[in-house]
Amino acid sequence: MVRLLAVDPQSPQPEAIRQAAALIRRGELVAFPTETVYGLGADALNPQAVARIFEVKGRPAHDPLIVHLATPDDLPRITSVVSPLARRLAETFWPGPLTLVLRKQPQVPDSVTAGLDTVAVRVPDHPVALALIRESNVPVAAPSANLFGRSSPTTARHVQEDLGDRLALILDAGPTMIGVESTVLDVTSSPPAILRPGGVTRESLEQVAGRVLLRNQELQVETPLPSPGLMAKHYAPRAELVLVLGDNDAYALEKMQELARRYLDVGIQPGLLLVDEEVLYFSGLDVQVFQLGRGKDLEQIARKLYAGLRALDDLGVKVILARCFEKRGLGLAINDRLRRAASRLVE
Ligand code: TXA
Ligand code: MG
Repeated sequence: MVRLLAVDPQSPQPEAIRQAAALIRRGELVAFPTETVYGLGADALNPQAVARIFEVKGRPAHDPLIVHLATPDDLPRITSVVSPLARRLAETFWPGPLTLVLRKQPQVPDSVTAGLDTVAVRVPDHPVALALIRESNVPVAAPSANLFGRSSPTTARHVQEDLGDRLALILDAGPTMIGVESTVLDVTSSPPAILRPGGVTRESLEQVAGRVLLRNQELQVETPLPSPGLMAKHYAPRAELVLVLGDNDAYALEKMQELARRYLDVGIQPGLLLVDEEVLYFSGLDVQVFQLGRGKDLEQIARKLYAGLRALDDLGVKVILARCFEKRGLGLAINDRLRRAASRLVE
């Protein structure tokens, strides 16, 4: 089993960081915390090490990786053109949960960028991540440290569950602060486009960049309880996730109650992702519940989302019922992850 090394999240022990950095420099893989989720790190300029990331995660080669830097000053090591807008965004949001897609330097291996002429870059806002990258003295390629298709890890234990037998080391600094991944913003096009909503909201990007497009993948909508498996799943629990669309609280509540009863009628105990205010409406039903916190507290909901999906999985439920949240702020990222994790969408 992999070695779990506990580190102080605020001021990580230098010896732990030295050990981890030595592994990275030797071309090995180290899982480490960022402010969003745990990452699976390798030397971004070492093609063999990068190949190991894809192997260990079971990730398809056409899905490019994010390269992590300790400081924007290192941008010239991996990117060629950095526009004034990109620079302004970096100054405003780094270190932080914003990934910028920029033109790449030829020395960045094709495996990192899946053959694209762009590279995704960010400076994470976590003392452990920053110390590790600085000490490694190389750009660190890191996807989320989960098996491909599963929910991203927000604790070291999640990483251990998914990848425990395939890693050199996991740096354990406790649960991550934000809980959903970084916002991926393509700044090679104008206006810039959000490719994946995440920890930095569209609203705050627009304050710096003006208009920002949201490149939304079309997702199929289905009627209640039809045949499953029509959508490519990602960020997903093992259980089948049934997602109630829309952000109407009263409607979502009614629909979830109805669905819960229908599952119970056919002998299936559902797991429910609920906000605190909703719990009492299910008190009479034999369901498993994970509480995400107060309905208005999108920060906390984001922080608990993946842990909630994994916790319900651990309880062994076959079906999880969840609903969408407000389409503002972090709600965009939360809804995006729920949609991708869902087997069925219910209107
Ligand atoms: O918060 C995060 O971003 C976490 C932590 C570990 O930093 N990382 C993460 O990595 O979520 P990953 O590999 O799970 O997601 C990377 C995303 C994918 O959606 C990928 O398609 C996109 O970034 N991406 C990477 N390079 C790209 C490029 N050159 N052009 C467009 N999208 C790119
Ligand atoms: Mg991922």
